[in-house]
Amino acid sequence: MWTKENIPDQTGKIAIVTGANTGIGYQTALALYQAGAHVIIASRSLENASEALNNMEATSGKGSLEKGLLNLASLKDIQKFADNFIKKHKKLDILINNAGVMTPPAAKTNDGFELQFGVNFLGHFALTAHLYSLLKQAPDARVVTLSSGAYKSAQQIDFDNLRSEKSYDAFREYAISKLADMQFTLELQRRVIQNGDRILSLAAHPGVTETSLSRHMPEEDFKAALKQFGELMPAWQGALSPLFAATSPLAKAGGYYGPDEENELRGFPGPAIINEIANDKEAANKLWQFAENATGINFFKTK
Ligand SMILES: NC(=O)c1ccc[n+]([C@@H]2O[C@H](COP(=O)([O-])OP(=O)(O)OC[C@H]3O[C@@H](n4cnc5c(N)ncnc54)[C@H](OP(=O)(O)O)[C@@H]3O)[C@@H](O)[C@H]2O)c1
Repeated sequence: MWTKENIPDQTGKIAIVTGANTGIGYQTALALYQAGAHVIIASRSLENASEALNNMEATSGKGSLEKGLLNLASLKDIQKFADNFIKKHKKLDILINNAGVMTPPAAKTNDGFELQFGVNFLGHFALTAHLYSLLKQAPDARVVTLSSGAYKSAQQIDFDNLRSEKSYDAFREYAISKLADMQFTLELQRRVIQNGDRILSLAAHPGVTETSLSRHMPEEDFKAALKQFGELMPAWQGALSPLFAATSPLAKAGGYYGPDEENELRGFPGPAIINEIANDKEAANKLWQFAENATGINFFKTK
């Protein structure tokens, strides 16, 4: 059983956790800080980031903390966050693409993309691209992207509906955003290797964990989900799979990790299932091209 106690000493490492003000992101950032890392609490609210930072500091971890303003629903704000980070730091050891939104009422990012696709995938694609040159400066950098068991409900990405041109189905779009996170993780690993770089790209999911992710779910849907999926894990336990991916020497390039029991719903970190659609290289390549066009970023040519 892999727990927080198995995290190797992180002294000297620099980590960014997106959406670290609450839920799984908070617990992930806290554990990295306690293990000695310098952790950037990236949040779309500096007030919430400050509160999280104070609460983490109160545990007297071995590491250090910093906060950063990051709104993943705006490509301009993502660039600003990355520029500030690059001004201050010379390398990045761990990037945890954790922030997420699930089944909100129909909405779009500042750049006109369906909100879940825009925040959960496209924003993290842009962030990773902007920070790639600093990831290359760390000896064994890792990028961990949070997916979800829900990705398996998505059959394909409808490229003609990523700005909700045709219709909006809250759960379908969530599943698509999480499939995109899987395809991105695997495609990034292939391209890193092609590029001759040493960065690990991994995905993780937290099974069913009690956080504020269900904030947009109607009460009756939440109750029905609880009936279907059973007891929710506490957030510290949900954070273990991303922590395993980010720190364990056992985690492998292009690996996907999640809870190891009850169809990946609960338990402790273990390998999770990567299905054929997630592994589809042609589809991932198409997604990559789309993302580069949509963000105006040439991934491997950013500064
Ligand atoms: N909980 C589960 O059972 C479960 C299952 C599968 C996958 N996941 C994944 O785990 C990750 C963490 O979710 P969680 O369960 O910890 O949910 P959560 O408690 O709702 O936390 C989500 C975090 O994402 C942030 N966020 C949302 N929109 C953002 C934006 N536009 N810009 C920047 N940050 C934004 C939130 O900020 P605010 O606090 O300001 O809203 C919050 O910090 C997500 O990727 C989620 O899809 C969770």
